[in-house]
Amino acid sequence: MDQKDKLQICAQLLLLLAAVTIQDVEFMYKETLLLNCNGTDGTNGTNATWWKDSISVIKLNYDGVEFETLANGSLQIKNAIRDIAGVYTCQCDCGNKTATIYAAAKVVPFETSMNLEQGDMLNITCRVLGYPLPSITWLKDGIELHLDSRYQLSEFSGFPNASLAIKSVDFGDAGVYTCQASSSRYNISSSETIIIRVKDKLAPLWPLLGIVVEVVVLSVIIFVFEKKGNRISNTEEDDSKESTTKEKKSKGVRHRGNANNPKS
Ligand SMILES: *[C@@H]1O[C@H](CO)[C@@H](O)[C@H](O)[C@H]1NC(C)=O
Ligand SMILES: *[C@@H]1O[C@H](CO)[C@@H](O)[C@H](O)[C@H]1NC(C)=O
Ligand SMILES: *[C@@H]1O[C@H](CO)[C@@H](O)[C@H](O)[C@H]1NC(C)=O
Ligand SMILES: *[C@@H]1O[C@H](CO)[C@@H](O)[C@H](O)[C@H]1NC(C)=O
Ligand SMILES: *[C@@H]1O[C@H](CO)[C@@H](O)[C@H](O)[C@H]1NC(C)=O
Ligand SMILES: *[C@@H]1O[C@H](CO)[C@@H](O)[C@H](O)[C@H]1NC(C)=O
Ligand SMILES: *[C@@H]1O[C@H](CO)[C@@H](O)[C@H](O)[C@H]1NC(C)=O
Ligand SMILES: *[C@@H]1O[C@H](CO)[C@@H](O)[C@H](O)[C@H]1NC(C)=O
Repeated sequence: MDQKDKLQICAQLLLLLAAVTIQDVEFMYKETLLLNCNGTDGTNGTNATWWKDSISVIKLNYDGVEFETLANGSLQIKNAIRDIAGVYTCQCDCGNKTATIYAAAKVVPFETSMNLEQGDMLNITCRVLGYPLPSITWLKDGIELHLDSRYQLSEFSGFPNASLAIKSVDFGDAGVYTCQASSSRYNISSSETIIIRVKDKLAPLWPLLGIVVEVVVLSVIIFVFEKKGNRISNTEEDDSKESTTKEKKSKGVRHRGNANNPKS
């Protein structure tokens, strides 16, 4: 590599630096942020148009946020919310430039509890805001989840590992789950928790089964005692057995007779 090549590489690097680091801004909630399009090369942002991830800011729709491109090419953002964090590109006659809005990680609050039945699918989706893209860690009962094959992590809304799923939950899966997000730029993390309860699939049947068992037990007890009782009364009545039966028989005959001859 000769001197000329080295100089060329240096010049390219300088150009790249000029094109990349124009204006970086820290996010401030509900404040007005300003991204400038003027470069170190002395160019200004006349006739600038602004883009976020290849979407024109005119088309962006964040709750309550107002984007306005000023006459000097600067992008003014009123009522900033964390959702707007990211990389913006200014396209102007002077060439494309980027500006970044940085924001610490924030987990958007989700449901605080969920009741599942044994065998159900669990799917917790964690919506995360912030730039640089935060990394997501999952905890169960305060301890980092040991991610074996039962767990399925997937990307959600551009964030890797933001969705945690278990195909078929068991009692052991019940507990407190935490989605924790943090980014290397900030020394703070954000987290939200959800309580997962797992019920027995047959749970609604247990009271019914209890009643059935009770009835069976009672029936057995009644049956046994009745038999015992019969045996006792049988022995007691043994002496008078014959006469009683005879009496009964004669009564029965008499009754039958009455029934057969209603006239008598
Ligand atoms: C861009 O313009 C602003 C406001 O006039 C100025 O403070 C800043 O230094 C300029 N940036 C560059 C890279 O020239
Ligand atoms: C921006 O630059 C253009 C061309 O270089 C120049 O005509 C114009 O006056 C400049 N505008 C401002 C506000 O400096
Ligand atoms: C801005 O755009 C207008 C119309 O497209 C053009 O006449 C003007 O020269 C542009 N300004 C600069 C600084 O290039
Ligand atoms: C553009 O105009 C706004 C509002 O007048 C001003 O605050 C900002 O510094 C200007 N930007 C540049 C690059 O001159
Ligand atoms: C600016 O970006 C647009 C779209 O990404 C591209 O078409 C255009 O060529 C770029 N211009 C420069 C000067 O890099
Ligand atoms: C969990 O839910 C999210 C969001 O609805 C979805 O993107 C993801 O694919 C689901 N995961 C599984 C394993 O079904
Ligand atoms: C997603 O989680 C897996 C398992 O913990 C980890 O190896 C991987 O680096 C994570 N990916 C990202 C982008 O955080
Ligand atoms: C991060 O914060 C903790 C406590 O808030 C502190 O002990 C630690 O020194 C900090 N680390 C850095 C790199 O700032």
